[in-house]
Amino acid sequence: MSLFIFVVVVLLYGSIFQYNSAAAPRSFSIDYKHDCFRKDGEVFRYISGSIHYSRIPRVYWKDRLLKMYMAGLNAIQTYIPWNFHERASGHYDFSGDRDVTHFLQLAQDVGLLVILRPGPYICGEWDMGGLPAWLLKKKDIVLRSSDPDYIAAVDKWMGKLLPMMKPFLYQNGGPVITVQVENEYGSYFACDYDYLRHLTSVFRYHLGNEVVLFTTDGAGVSYLKCGSLQGLYATVDFGPGSNVTAAFSAQRYAEPHGPLVNSEFYTGWLDHWGEKHNVVSTTAIVKSLNEMLSLGANVNMYMFIGGTNFGYWNGANTKYAPQPTSYDYDAPLTEAGDLTDKYFAIRDVIKMHRKIPEGPPPPSTPKYAYGSVKISLLTTVSKAANTLSFAGPIKTKYPLTFIELNQQFGYVLYRTTLPMDCSKPTPLSSPMNGVNDRAYVSVNGVPSGILERNKAITTNITGKPGDQLDILVENMGRINYGKEINDFKGLVTNLTLGSQELSNWEVFSLSIDEAISEGLLWQGNFEERATLTPPRSLGLAPPAFYTGSFIIPDGIPDLPQDTYIQFPGWKKGQVWINGFNLGRYWPDRGPQVTLFVPANILSTSSPNNLTVLELESDPCTPGPCTVEFTTVPVLNGTVKSLPNQKRQLFRKDLL
Ligand SMILES: *[C@@H]1O[C@H](CO)[C@@H](O)[C@H](O)[C@H]1NC(C)=O
Ligand SMILES: *[C@@H]1O[C@H](CO)[C@@H](O)[C@H](O)[C@H]1NC(C)=O
Ligand SMILES: *[C@@H]1O[C@H](CO)[C@@H](O)[C@H](O)[C@H]1NC(C)=O
Ligand SMILES: *[C@@H]1O[C@H](CO)[C@@H](O)[C@H](O)[C@H]1NC(C)=O
Ligand SMILES: *[C@@H]1O[C@H](CO)[C@@H](O)[C@H](O)[C@H]1NC(C)=O
Repeated sequence: MSLFIFVVVVLLYGSIFQYNSAAAPRSFSIDYKHDCFRKDGEVFRYISGSIHYSRIPRVYWKDRLLKMYMAGLNAIQTYIPWNFHERASGHYDFSGDRDVTHFLQLAQDVGLLVILRPGPYICGEWDMGGLPAWLLKKKDIVLRSSDPDYIAAVDKWMGKLLPMMKPFLYQNGGPVITVQVENEYGSYFACDYDYLRHLTSVFRYHLGNEVVLFTTDGAGVSYLKCGSLQGLYATVDFGPGSNVTAAFSAQRYAEPHGPLVNSEFYTGWLDHWGEKHNVVSTTAIVKSLNEMLSLGANVNMYMFIGGTNFGYWNGANTKYAPQPTSYDYDAPLTEAGDLTDKYFAIRDVIKMHRKIPEGPPPPSTPKYAYGSVKISLLTTVSKAANTLSFAGPIKTKYPLTFIELNQQFGYVLYRTTLPMDCSKPTPLSSPMNGVNDRAYVSVNGVPSGILERNKAITTNITGKPGDQLDILVENMGRINYGKEINDFKGLVTNLTLGSQELSNWEVFSLSIDEAISEGLLWQGNFEERATLTPPRSLGLAPPAFYTGSFIIPDGIPDLPQDTYIQFPGWKKGQVWINGFNLGRYWPDRGPQVTLFVPANILSTSSPNNLTVLELESDPCTPGPCTVEFTTVPVLNGTVKSLPNQKRQLFRKDLL
């Protein structure tokens, strides 16, 4: 035997041996002949639920996963929001609530497989659909396409993320059975096959050839045309009440063979500020779920638990309509992880199709009503502008956007002086509708109106030449769906006063979160604060910070517990407890009234510090100047706004 043949035989033997030892015990694949998945060679079907680790405090991950496991699920599905991890270009964060590999490990420990959706675009009612806002530094970037600047950023991110995911693939000993590429790409205008092909090769390069890659699109042939690609297994999404046969026959258009998969079966639906809270009937869910499972289909329930858009993470739809802080979604587990009738009804359906774990699920976590907490004025935003703007104001002839200021979230203050006499009410306008998204206007500290994207482009002001005009602009969340995802924030066009274009601005990029967690607002020399009663007019007070503290009572076992905060008499703003940004409140528009407060941010050893940024008007004169902690969530309060447009349950084309 020549050396050459000997080497070939040894190599062949080696690779066959390796194949047997690696692939036989752990493999996951599609069986096109029998229209199913195969796990370790056996026919396999998943019944899964969506849970977004980015919307749940880390301490609660295990509890929620265990409840999902006890419902009879054998898998979960999760998104990885790029902007949650790469907070500035090249600066990654995988710690604490962002520790996605810990989350995957917990899922595996609990006994759940994972369907991973790493984007890069995720939609998900998440700011900018998960894309980092810093991508907009290139103003005309075409997101979700072959635009070279977009691709360079995607490649760098995936080069960081996917190698971290690789050890978690099923065939490598982890829980991840399938990985989704992009998200509902067929609904996006670009229809750029080169982009999907490029993503596929990047995913293959980092994850290997064995893992099942897939796409998800609306259950209609028109969506599948631009959303599917050879080499990516095409799946569909649809809600209860759909014609299941018709929906799956759309999938069969793209995949004549292979398992039937509904990647997003809607257990509830999303909300918008100012639009009625959505609920989805359990009866309809149970019926469609049973129908799909009887067909042998694989189903992922979106959401199984929705969770919370803490901080500034909510997205928005068009015509501009931001989503509220709660992402409860009317899912089988509530925002706070509580069991519902829907949970048990779904578990009963699953029980008819697979053996489910014995015993009761973990109980709902107890809630505690800490009661009313008195708070008081700390300072106005205008007075604190220099403290809040770490680098100081930028002088600029024309307004700068958030991204031009290197700020992604929160609030920016635009200041100029009145260039002319406005002793008669004079219209301050955004003729190009460029206030993104809501602006609180004051002259010499006296409130004079609110501008709002698409809704209020003019307000009258009065004053004399040289008076200080302050415009605090709130970013209410970036559009996460459709062709308007290049959503710039701040004053994105010029404002006019009368017929004159305003210029010569001082722009304050505000580091409010940092200032609160570092206690700067309390150290500031705001001498007048004790006596200060901000001037009011037109039923408005200037945007201001209020603060107070509360103590967790002793002698009651198992405190601190979760709670909900509500704002009787308050209008709209943002709230922090011990520096943790709980999100936006806006009971004045609804439907969300209470905000979820997880126990892990509360302290029993020292007073808990509460900071409220009220943007419109406080109830403090004559009072009472309080917020309240209660045990009962209210997500279906009355709404006070005309609907933006006709929306319907499960209809993304109307979002
Ligand atoms: C559901 O769709 C199938 C296939 O398109 C059709 O044959 C059937 O009549 C539909 N069923 C109902 C109840 O509309
Ligand atoms: C502004 O003032 C003018 C003149 O006083 C009045 O006609 C107009 O309705 C006011 N506009 C708004 C938006 O209040
Ligand atoms: C504001 O107006 C000036 C001059 O009319 C123009 O050069 C500038 O581009 C405008 N800025 C924006 C953000 O529209
Ligand atoms: C609340 O703020 C005070 C004063 O800054 C600080 O000493 C205390 O530790 C804070 N409490 C918590 C729970 O962070
Ligand atoms: C709001 O939801 C609660 C709890 O689900 C329910 O009892 C109540 O009837 C609802 N209220 C309205 C106005 O829909």
